[in-house]
Amino acid sequence: MKKIIALTGAGISAESGITTFRDSGGLWEQYDIMEVAHIDGWRKNPQLVQRFYNERRKQLEEVEPNAAHHILAELEKDFDVTVVTQNVDNLHERAGSTKIIHLHGELTKARSSVNTDMIVDIGYRPIELDEKAPDGSQLRPHIVWFGEAVPMIEKAADIVAQADILLIIGTSLNVYPAAGLVGYADRKAQIYLIDPNEVPYSGRNITMIREKATTGMKKLKNILTNF
Ligand code: OAD
Repeated sequence: MKKIIALTGAGISAESGITTFRDSGGLWEQYDIMEVAHIDGWRKNPQLVQRFYNERRKQLEEVEPNAAHHILAELEKDFDVTVVTQNVDNLHERAGSTKIIHLHGELTKARSSVNTDMIVDIGYRPIELDEKAPDGSQLRPHIVWFGEAVPMIEKAADIVAQADILLIIGTSLNVYPAAGLVGYADRKAQIYLIDPNEVPYSGRNITMIREKATTGMKKLKNILTNF
């Protein structure tokens, strides 16, 4: 089976009703990224940060995966598919994808503030400010904040290097090290980039599909039936 690696970002979940970060009206226009998505923001005002992620988690319970998530999951019938996502939602899981790497963590999990490996499932409920992890430290969202290491990045780079087909869907490729993963693709890999807006990426063997994720994935499915 040919290997498909899908690098996904906020844009694939936009049509489910989850706001992206950098589009006009995006989350980083409404919130200060340094206050809610940087480790220093957590140190300065954990209450604000908990509230921000509690709201995101509550919203996640109310939305559904869209056709783009579903088509990606269905591709597993004919391809060996791994999703490498920057998203912290669980819409790939809920659509049925089985191999998923979350580079930036997961909203439905929380972790110890001292031990990155002590992770607990919390579902969609809020984390209380004084709630403790099993090791007695403050329980925090299982999110990789700016200023923190990205533990899954090496594993993701190894996987991208094995791709016969690399899909880049709904990411502005602004945030490193995730954006740097595209550089690990093999010279022979066929690359498809789905985004309604221009993304500053040019490479070998690349086909740009200037569409929203749902229509773009429908087009891609037709292209891949002949692959
Ligand atoms: P961005 O908000 O930076 O980019 C979203 C991309 O999705 C843009 O290229 C949009 O053009 C595109 N887009 C918008 N609507 C779309 C649609 N319906 N279908 C397809 N694409 C669409 O989001 P990311 O690149 O995912 O990290 O952001 C990367 C990281 O920055 C996030 O994981 C998050 C953020 O800060 C942390 O918070 C640690």
